[in-house]
This record gives sequence, structure tokens and C-alpha cells, in this order.
Amino acid sequence: MNPLREDTRDAVNRVDEARLWQRHMEMAQIGAIPGNGVNRAAFSKEDIAARKLLISWARARNFTVAIDAIGNLFIRRAGTDPTAAPVMTGSHMDSQPRGGRFDGIYGVLAGLEALEAIDAAGIRTRHPVELVAWSNEEGGRFQPCTMGSAVYTRARTLDDFRHATDNEGIALDQALQQTLAATPGLAHRELNAPAAGYIEAHIEQGPLLEREHKTIGVVTGIQGLRWFNVEVSGECAHAGTTPLAWRKDAMREAIAAMNALHELTRDATDTVRFTIGRVLVTPNSPNTVPNHVLFSVDIRHPDLATITRLGAAVEPAVRGAVKHCAVKITSTLHDDPCAFDAAVVGCIESAAQALDLPYRRMPSGASHDAMYMARVCPTGMIFVPCEKGVSHNEAENAAPADLAAGTRVLAAALLQMANR
Ligand code: GLV
Ligand code: MN
Ligand code: MN
Repeated sequence: MNPLREDTRDAVNRVDEARLWQRHMEMAQIGAIPGNGVNRAAFSKEDIAARKLLISWARARNFTVAIDAIGNLFIRRAGTDPTAAPVMTGSHMDSQPRGGRFDGIYGVLAGLEALEAIDAAGIRTRHPVELVAWSNEEGGRFQPCTMGSAVYTRARTLDDFRHATDNEGIALDQALQQTLAATPGLAHRELNAPAAGYIEAHIEQGPLLEREHKTIGVVTGIQGLRWFNVEVSGECAHAGTTPLAWRKDAMREAIAAMNALHELTRDATDTVRFTIGRVLVTPNSPNTVPNHVLFSVDIRHPDLATITRLGAAVEPAVRGAVKHCAVKITSTLHDDPCAFDAAVVGCIESAAQALDLPYRRMPSGASHDAMYMARVCPTGMIFVPCEKGVSHNEAENAAPADLAAGTRVLAAALLQMANR
């Protein structure tokens, strides 16, 4: 382990824990919900308000701000070499419908804090250092998740998603255009412009760091993830009069399909993750037999062979369970497990060591935009503890000192990469 360079140490010392915390609390006012949580759906008026606040903080430091076709925001501190690609950091500002104050926004505010600390130390880097706030990471309103980074890296196209609708029937394209119009005058950013590297800071969203009294998680990769929409179509009928044998009850058959998927994903080692989190019932009336049920499927596993096998088994399991209704299965997300770049992982680990912070290497159970960035540039992630591992929950909590420690590691690692 090498000690930090003197100028890096200066930047790290300028990470301001109180300012970082204060900004989290300010952002948490935007979309605040009871129980200390946040509901800041992608491309909503709350998302727009968060974007405006972030841009105002960036402008106060004279960082440049650009936006791309899907609304990803890029905040840049210039480097000395105009031909050098940026070293990037960031995360997302949208939240789950009943989300917490740290998931996503921490990586954005940590990135801004790192940029400010580097700037305050007056360090000239060869590469620009750039913060990105990705659009629609959560996928709670418009599916799937990690949409901004998928489009940015050209893993998917914006046309794949324009017609996605939220639960109110609003199309993504309409909400996106309103969001773009709300922050006029920003420079335009091309998709997939070259990047020299990417580091994302995030709360762990699990219990390991807290349990082991570690301040930093050096993330080695992200487990595989498959999303599907299952639609079961039957016939509306009167709940009081129609004999059960005559019905094409979409709910009854959807429940059979759900049970079959629970069986499919049963795992004695408790490694498979399986969730049905979204159900839309039509016409959603107590005394009409439903003619249509849509439910989501989220399956995850760290091992490629296992997630591939489970993903392929979804359609046969559903079709085997649905006897009297029509069924349609659509794959909405297919992310194989990813391993982060060894050099970036090493760089983050050395920064944690040089700062004398207790750390451990660990994989990520949650998905992140880093998964897509890992396809186009050397990528890594930094985790900090969150209280009892609680996330996607209003009660999500983290300690100001841990948030600042993760930001110091981030600043040191970004400097290491940006000077190269
Ligand atoms: C991101 O929030 C995920 O679902 O892992
Ligand atoms: Mn997140
Ligand atoms: Mn999340």
C-alpha cells in the first residue's frame, strides 16, 4: 500500500462531512414521504426539482453541465488534456415509490463533494473528472431499471423505451420531454462518449459492512438479473353468478403461475433472489372476475449458469401453470453477472488502506448503473454501511461519518485514475 500523495491528502481533507449531510437532507425534502422516506419517481416533478438543485450546486462551482437524449446529467471539472476522456463517477437521483434518503442520491452527492474537494485543493488532473446523474435507475415508474446507463452505453436504444407507460398510462417519452424542457440551455452530450473509467459510490443496501464493523465495501462485481412481465388474459364475468367451471379467471391463473415460479426458484442455499413486486389487475373491481393480470418477475443470481438456467425456465413454468387463459411473457431486462475491473478494484482498495479505513471486498446483490459502465470502461464501486442493511424502505439510514469516509475513498481513487 502506497501512502497518499500530498495533494491527494489535501483534497481528501477538504471533503466536508457537514455539507455532504446537509445536501442529503435538502434533497430528502424533494419528494419527502411519511416515515423519513422519499418518493422521487423518474421524470416526475420531484425528479425535475432534484435536477435543478444539483445543477445550481454545480454552477456555483463553475463546473460545466451537459445532458443527453435520455436526460442523464453530466457535471464536469475540466482536465488539462483536452483530448483525454473523463474519469466518471455518479449514481441516480430517482427513488423507489417508498424509498429512502440515500439509495442513489448518495453516489451523486458524494461525486459532487469529491469534485468540490479536488477543486478546492486546486489539483490539476490530466483527465476531466465528471459526475453523472443517471436517469431512471430504479425502474419503479417506468420499467426496466438502469435505463439511463443502458441507453448511454448503447446496450439498449431510447426507442426501446419511449413507449413504456407508468401505472397511470403516461408514456415515458412524454415525461422525458417534460424533464428535458425543464432544464433548458444545457450543453448536449453524445451517447457513449469515451470514458477513462467509472466509480460509483452507494450505500450497501445489505447488512455485511455494519455487522463486520467495516466502513468501506470494495465491490468486486454485480450478480445477474432477469426481469419479465407476465400477462395472463381471460374474460370478465360476474363474481356472483358465473360458475367457477365456466370462468377464465386471469387472477386465479396468475396465482398458479406465481406459485410455479416460487417453486422454480426454491433454493436451499438462499442464494437465488426472486420477487414479484408489481401486479396490475384489470378491471380491478371486487365483483368482476379479472380478465387481465400483469405481474413482474425479478430473478437474480451471481452465477452465470444458474441465472441462465432460471431465466430460460420462466416461460415453461408459467405456461405449465396457466390452463384456461392466454399468456404472454416478455423479457424486459437481461443482465448477466459482471466482474469489475481488477485495476479499479485495486485502486479503491489502496485508497481505503491509505486512509486507514476498515474495508472488505464484496459482491453487490443490488443492481447499479456501474453494470452497464463496466461494459465500456474500467469500472468499480464503493459501498458504505447502511443501518441494519435496510433499503428500498423509508427507514433507510446511514451515518454522516460513513458517507464522508466513502467520499474520501472516492476522491482519492478518482484522482489516482484522473492523473494517469
Ligand atoms: C436497484 O435498485 C435494484 O433493483 O437492484
Ligand atoms: Mn441505487
Ligand atoms: Mn434502488
